[in-house]
Amino acid sequence: MKRETQLELARELQAHVRNGSTALAPEVFRNPVAAYSDAARAQLERERLFRARPLFMGMSCRLPNPGDFLAEEIAGVPVLLVRGQDGALRAFANICRHRGAPVASGCGQARVFACPYHGWTYGLDGRLAGIPEQASFPGVDKSTHGLQPLPAGERHGMIFARLCKGPQPQAAAVAEDALEIDVDAHLSGLGEEFDAYRFAGYSYFASEWMAPAINWKFGIDTFLEAYHLPALHRTTVAPLIRGNVGAFDAYGDHGRMTFVRFSSSAWDGK
Ligand code: FES
Repeated sequence: MKRETQLELARELQAHVRNGSTALAPEVFRNPVAAYSDAARAQLERERLFRARPLFMGMSCRLPNPGDFLAEEIAGVPVLLVRGQDGALRAFANICRHRGAPVASGCGQARVFACPYHGWTYGLDGRLAGIPEQASFPGVDKSTHGLQPLPAGERHGMIFARLCKGPQPQAAAVAEDALEIDVDAHLSGLGEEFDAYRFAGYSYFASEWMAPAINWKFGIDTFLEAYHLPALHRTTVAPLIRGNVGAFDAYGDHGRMTFVRFSSSAWDGK
């Protein structure tokens, strides 16, 4: 975070502490239960949020070297991220062009991807390199049967991908069939803030995958307030962070919440 932003937030939060207030929406918001349980809505969210918009796929340090790859299923789409020999980060549908088997699983290092089903091989750039017994496939043009590329982007030490082509929401300058993502347009002003963290210089330590059987919004909504800290986290977080005091800033599709540690009273007035 930029120092000026830190100072602004510190002043705002100190004022909230002094006044016994917090950032609030203009009015009480009533959230219909169907937002979490309606299957048709969930399908729409999958299409409009997870498939159309850029998704954060991880830090750049996850794939630092040429040949590094990561295969994950996101919103029902098997995605393969690869660092090419040219250093560029690319994304593909992890679907063999022969009969649809995934050509890679997990993460690791590869020089080529060999489909485990019948052995078709693909280069790091997605090109179809080899078809065993190619004489059995007369008329199949290898140059048009590479892995399907997906739009990808890398900025501020972070990797983004989109699960389908087509216009990138909030990025009118990006051509419809572009394989690039305008990450800064997507971040709506947060890019500079992320730069201050210097994520590009980070090293990969570990990752953990959690898939609880809940609507995805619970994972977000339950974190969007410090109101629950004194009751739910009475003996853990509550002694460290003030309950129901916070600042909120919106950046396009994104939001930043900032809470206050009790220890920050040491710099009150400074
Ligand atoms: Fe991949 Fe057959 S499904 S080679």
